[in-house]
Amino acid sequence: MINQKFIVNLKNHSYPIHIGSKIFQSNDILSPASKGDRILVVTDTIISPIWKKIVLDFFLTNDMVVNEFILLSGEQYKNLHSVEMLLSFLLKNAYDRNTILVALGGGVIGDLVGFVASIYQRGIRFIQIPTTLLSQVDASIGGKTGVNHIDGKNMIGSFWQPISVITNVDFLFTLPYAQLVSGLAEIIKYAISFDYGFFEWLEKNIYQVLSLDLKSILYCINKCCILKSKIVTLDERENNCRMFLNFGHTFGHAIESYFEYLHWLHGESISVGMVIAIKISEKIGLLDSCQSNRMINLIQYSGLPISPPYDMSPQSYFPYILRDKKNSGGKIRIILPTSIGSVKIFDDFDRNVILSVIKSCWKK
Ligand code: GLY
Repeated sequence: MINQKFIVNLKNHSYPIHIGSKIFQSNDILSPASKGDRILVVTDTIISPIWKKIVLDFFLTNDMVVNEFILLSGEQYKNLHSVEMLLSFLLKNAYDRNTILVALGGGVIGDLVGFVASIYQRGIRFIQIPTTLLSQVDASIGGKTGVNHIDGKNMIGSFWQPISVITNVDFLFTLPYAQLVSGLAEIIKYAISFDYGFFEWLEKNIYQVLSLDLKSILYCINKCCILKSKIVTLDERENNCRMFLNFGHTFGHAIESYFEYLHWLHGESISVGMVIAIKISEKIGLLDSCQSNRMINLIQYSGLPISPPYDMSPQSYFPYILRDKKNSGGKIRIILPTSIGSVKIFDDFDRNVILSVIKSCWKK
């Protein structure tokens, strides 16, 4: 058994992240929940048959009262309808304010369950048990919760921190390969945005990560969790540096929303979004072609897409870009890389530059 622990430091609501293998053999991961608590494990139709037993048994053997609620799997179900179903289940079964919701799944389940936890009876506790690489390195940490709207990704939501995150790397062994690759997009985002050394390490070790070598995967998850928790500690509500974590997301969210959350995985969209941002940086002289090629090569070697969808015209990005949550006063705000290991916020960005770069990457 491997069980590493560190703390996300926040004023009134710090919490532990446990990362390991065979982690449910350890009772150390229980706190701050305790014996007798009423738990509702919320998961989806894909995760439930594979992993629910191990998780439910863990809570049962710790004398908790446990039930399960299963949602349909997929980003297209991360919406207000699913929120309402879960709220109705909680009310009909008289779950009270001491209930703990457990989000067992990827980013969709984590975001949705966190959102319900933030509004049910004005807020109840929840635990994140992320099952995808993407949610283990990014989505489960930092308390962003919410659901999608047909007109925009994550447009309805709240900041609501979990009471703990339990990351079991063994979940990754049953993850479809496309989902694993999708998770790499967020890992590469952390390297490009914050850490040249990590970027170099990924260039050398990407295949070990993709083949789920335990030491390499644990290194990546730890690295991203440390980088993310530092940022969240500095700027929980995304007023400044947390926006760096949105590198690639302005354009990626446009792609996901345009295809109604059906055809492009989050990491795939973010990957193309990062390539567009990198090319904008190169166009305006922030990056030389050598740096930009290195970034795009790493993205491509990981198996991630680097070209925008041919069936989405360059103009179609703009309704989504103009509604992006980072914008202020009707002006476009984007995050661009300035070197390998650093990104910057750019305000009132020229839409013609964006359009010309998307056009240049777009092949019909
Ligand atoms: N996934 C970006 C953030 O949590 O801020």
